[in-house]
Amino acid sequence: MRIIESAIKEKGVEVMIPDRENFGHYSTNLAMKLAKLEKKNPMDSARELAGKISARVPKGVFLKIEAVTPGFINFWLSKEFLQKELTRISESKSFGKTNLGKGKKVIFEYSDPNIAKRMHVGHLRATIIGDALSNIYEFLGYKVVRWNYIGDWGTQFGKMIAAYKLWGSKAAVQRNPIEELQKLYVKFHEETGKNPELEKKGQEEFKRLENGDKTNKKLWEWFRRESLREFDKIYKILGVKFDVTIGEAFYEKELKKLVADLKKKKIAKESEGSLIIDLKKFGLPPALIQKSDGASLYMTRDIANIKYRLAEYKPVKMFYVVGNEQSLHFEQLFKVAEILGLDKSELKHLKFGLVLDEDGKKFATREGRVVLLDDLINKAVRLSREVVEEKSRRSGERPEVRDSNRRGSGASEKEKDKIAHAVGIGALKYNDLKENRHSDVKFNWGQMLNISGNSGPYLQYTYARMQNILAKSSKFQTLSSKKIPSSKKRKTNFDLLVKKEELDLIRKVLQFPDALIDAHDSLLTSGFSNYLYELCNLANRFYETAPVIKEPDLARRGARVSLIQTTNRVIKAGLGLLGIKALDNI
Ligand code: ARG
Repeated sequence: MRIIESAIKEKGVEVMIPDRENFGHYSTNLAMKLAKLEKKNPMDSARELAGKISARVPKGVFLKIEAVTPGFINFWLSKEFLQKELTRISESKSFGKTNLGKGKKVIFEYSDPNIAKRMHVGHLRATIIGDALSNIYEFLGYKVVRWNYIGDWGTQFGKMIAAYKLWGSKAAVQRNPIEELQKLYVKFHEETGKNPELEKKGQEEFKRLENGDKTNKKLWEWFRRESLREFDKIYKILGVKFDVTIGEAFYEKELKKLVADLKKKKIAKESEGSLIIDLKKFGLPPALIQKSDGASLYMTRDIANIKYRLAEYKPVKMFYVVGNEQSLHFEQLFKVAEILGLDKSELKHLKFGLVLDEDGKKFATREGRVVLLDDLINKAVRLSREVVEEKSRRSGERPEVRDSNRRGSGASEKEKDKIAHAVGIGALKYNDLKENRHSDVKFNWGQMLNISGNSGPYLQYTYARMQNILAKSSKFQTLSSKKIPSSKKRKTNFDLLVKKEELDLIRKVLQFPDALIDAHDSLLTSGFSNYLYELCNLANRFYETAPVIKEPDLARRGARVSLIQTTNRVIKAGLGLLGIKALDNI
């Protein structure tokens, strides 16, 4: 795509990849846009521009550049260009990398669970999306700070402490921390219904915590530590890491000063005992800075958070991967940041939709309770194991893949667990990442694990299948090494790749950098996931129509082996960026 953009030498020109090849490998409507501006006939403009471009581009890149009605210009790459490019990238160690982010720091905030509460599917979405986008930005040269802004402060901890003092048991919390704490919290709410005095008790305990009361501080620290330990177990299973785990409590000590400052500068004003920042002129409800009882708020902590990040990290951008339901909060926060001159770094809310069940209802257990993440992950892994076992049983019935099956069925239980784990987590992640994050995601277990559909397991299976060919071909090469010079010495002759399926695959491989840049610009993973899916489709088509091991022409076989190698490098890198493992065997 970049080759066309540079040939046209116009900024912001939109180049698209048509669905059907007879509309070109690439196409642009630039001429139509220009014709409109210059009040010319669009077809004339298209012909004229196509001529200019043809004269400008290096020889041999395009097979054809054509102006077509109503004014599109379509481009077809030449096979020589594709072959040459494949030679280049098959030797390159940094294919897809750019210096787009060189010298730039960005903060990605994601996951953000609340302590003493179970992480829910919304946090899971944030974790998966935030991790993938961070990976992509890092790959493109940014210095990425991965930030887990945990919810570890607020009046609810007063209630928590009060409940623990009334009904808690140390042993029970130690045994099952979050479960037990959550139970206590629920009980506190139930009891408050009967005895409104309790509400006050909760507030008092929070005040004590705020004022540094030793017992309460110890309890809070303990709840926090135990919660983080449980969250870490989930992050480990998901293969997700953070650079900074600094939550809301961290900013507590800054808040008094911040609030006083806002008051002094007359940015915040009193309203019915509370302190607010008026945002009427932006068409937004006021931002609440301090409650009438003097307690600080979520909003205030977020302001302090921006201040701190700007001072300590100087990021060019800060991304918040948080659900749609907090849109208003972030709109207000960003306006406040603007008012305070804290907008030196671009602030962006990367929103996402809900997680729904197969019937499109909010995801819950049959009894209507929230689905526990551990249960969800375990189910994904269990079902994946069934899929993998079924696959290896069925492929065993086909003689041409018996070899891989022999290895599959010979796999130890431990190995099978490892595979099921990687496939299950991959399925879970891909199911989320393939959607435009603005939409809700559906949990359809069948689709999510469909090994021949648009699913994580399908991509992993494609990769494994091709690794298998590579393994066989190297075995073959060692056997007949006397006759064939080693692949290192022999220059791969990509000119021999001329079949449609081969050229289609090469063209897709070449789009890897474009797909990455699109993900970078749009901050969406859906297009990139779809790119990998299409790449795998073409890889399968190639594999099914062009023999590799059985190809009698050794030079052609070598070229096909190299094409598989390069394709698999891209699939592996792509899956890795989505946080999904590529396995040699499934
Ligand atoms: N902990 C919050 C929740 O679970 C999300 C925090 C979002 N991030 C922020 N900077 N406000 O709802």
